[in-house]
Amino acid sequence: MQYSNISFETSEDGIATLTVCRPDKLNALDNATMEEIDDALQRVAREPEHRALILTGAGEKAFVAGADINELVNVTPLEWKARCTRDHAILRRLESLPKASLAAINGYALGGGLELALSCTLRVAAENARLGLPEVRIGVFPGNGGTQRLPRLVGRGRALEMMLTGKLIDAAEAERIGLVNRVVPQAELLPYCRGLLKTIAENAPVAAALILECVDVGLRCGLEEGLRFEAAASAAVAASEDRREGTLAFLEKRRPVFRGR
Ligand code: COA
Repeated sequence: MQYSNISFETSEDGIATLTVCRPDKLNALDNATMEEIDDALQRVAREPEHRALILTGAGEKAFVAGADINELVNVTPLEWKARCTRDHAILRRLESLPKASLAAINGYALGGGLELALSCTLRVAAENARLGLPEVRIGVFPGNGGTQRLPRLVGRGRALEMMLTGKLIDAAEAERIGLVNRVVPQAELLPYCRGLLKTIAENAPVAAALILECVDVGLRCGLEEGLRFEAAASAAVAASEDRREGTLAFLEKRRPVFRGR
């Protein structure tokens, strides 16, 4: 697929970067942009050269300022539902990638933009970032997973306050409530994110993929089932070449060479 609204590239160390490129619209997500994001996510899932993924927005003002409001004016309920279902599938694809993803929040992360960030493994914000689910102010609804993922991350009370007031919070507040993992100066945002993902990508890929899957499954089921899944995942990791390489390398006092097998 040719991309017009995003850029997608992977550096030599395997860190892919997906940038939403509609800066004149504060990187708002229209239908075409969502389709392109989906295509890039399928590539990340399928192609082994991508070890981890950064999502960010073009320009210095916005990560993503939400769904493109131009496309929300004349929509029937059934069209709205179809769009919502498609976006749920795209964000689930992102959330359940077997590789770490990181939202580098370089400005406004609002509505569908925050919901995109909530579907990533990690979130790092620049000091100028402002985050919120302001949909209620324009009579719409955080229907791309916001009502589900935000309470799971920051707790029911804080999530409901953000959704019902529609107020934006700054980066420091987002860090305080656990909505972002870290706040860094804007100029350091991408280098910091690359460094963090490089650390992750240097570790054993099989173990990393199963950690991601265990947390994903565990947050959607009870503790007993989650622990059973964890035991089965541990056995799969124990059977991997990575496990043998990692433990031998420790005993032989050398750096492990993981192959993700
Ligand atoms: N959808 C479509 N266009 C959007 C947009 C969105 N979600 N967010 C911003 N834009 C557009 C603006 O319409 C404007 O376009 P124009 O120059 O053609 O008029 C451009 O991006 C710049 O935005 P502007 O509002 O002029 O910037 P600002 O600095 O004054 O305000 C925001 C920034 C983020 C506070 C404001 O743009 C905003 O409230 N956006 C909507 C956020 C929202 O409700 N998101 C959830 C949608 S469901």
